[in-house]
Amino acid sequence: INKVLSTRVRLTSFYTVDHFTERLKTAKNILVLTGAGVSTSLGIPDFRSSQGFYSRVKHLGLDDPQDVFNLDIFMQDPSIFYNIAHMVLPPDNIYSPLHSFIKMLQDKGKLLRNYTQNIDNLESYAGVDADKLVQCHGSFATASCTTCHWQMPGSHIFENIRKMELPLCPYCYQKRREYFPTVTDANRGVDRRPSPYINATVPKSYGVLKPDITFFGEALPSKFHKTIRKDITKCDLLICIGTSLKVAPVSEIVNMIPAHVPQILINRDPVNHAEFDLNLLGYCDDVAALVAQKCDWDIPHKKWAELK
Ligand code: APR
Repeated sequence: INKVLSTRVRLTSFYTVDHFTERLKTAKNILVLTGAGVSTSLGIPDFRSSQGFYSRVKHLGLDDPQDVFNLDIFMQDPSIFYNIAHMVLPPDNIYSPLHSFIKMLQDKGKLLRNYTQNIDNLESYAGVDADKLVQCHGSFATASCTTCHWQMPGSHIFENIRKMELPLCPYCYQKRREYFPTVTDANRGVDRRPSPYINATVPKSYGVLKPDITFFGEALPSKFHKTIRKDITKCDLLICIGTSLKVAPVSEIVNMIPAHVPQILINRDPVNHAEFDLNLLGYCDDVAALVAQKCDWDIPHKKWAELK
């Protein structure tokens, strides 16, 4: 194995769970790439599975359900997003055994970084430190005005989101009232009837606050670009968990890792468009429990007793 590893030949079918657990025990710089699948055991839907979030917004009649997160569409008509935003609001202070598995790697000094595509911020609740976490698609932690870019705590707009109203920037509010003189037009997030007052040249998003989650067409947080290059060269093990790897640039990380670094997939469904040395297909909480047990480690989660 060491000879093969040193000749940069990709390990293929003979990389086993035992090789993986042996590597886990010696690794010091594990890069963990996660997606919505690590939160589904908490009842939070993923995006593309048959019961996923995108199947639940079909009623909006959009050409592509991903358009609910399209920046251009949001700027033209933010009510489309605010029709469904309540469905993706992060829950409070819960996390899965898999989130705790990542925290455990951190506690053992093995976690280089967790690149998460999730916007639910649950990694932080599980105790993953901010410097060990890159929220590639942002989070609800803050919200910003689409006009003056003033930023505020994201929780301040949760009430508007729950009531499906457009959260408005206090600094742009007066100006917006000039463009949309009737309160209902200005405030009503779900009313999509064209209003006689709407000034055609002013987008409906004027003075509307948007959670700092990364929309399609929007740049990823600068932290992603600051850390990924260095981490790619430093990591000695890549583990992808609970993601279909359908969205770039995060999905490209798998192809950027040096060939001699083992790449492991822990996922319910196969990911055929990416190459892994080992595919552990199943529910990630269960796979994490199996792997932890083989390493004689305990996952710091209240469900650990029933999982092992
Ligand atoms: N255990 C393991 N894998 C799971 C589990 C689970 N309990 N539940 C779901 N999965 C797997 C599914 O098989 C699927 O391959 O997780 C993957 C989730 O894939 P997606 O729904 O596409 O979610 P994700 O990969 O995170 O999407 C990436 O797309 O829409 C954008 O910004 C959004 O961050 C999101 C990005």
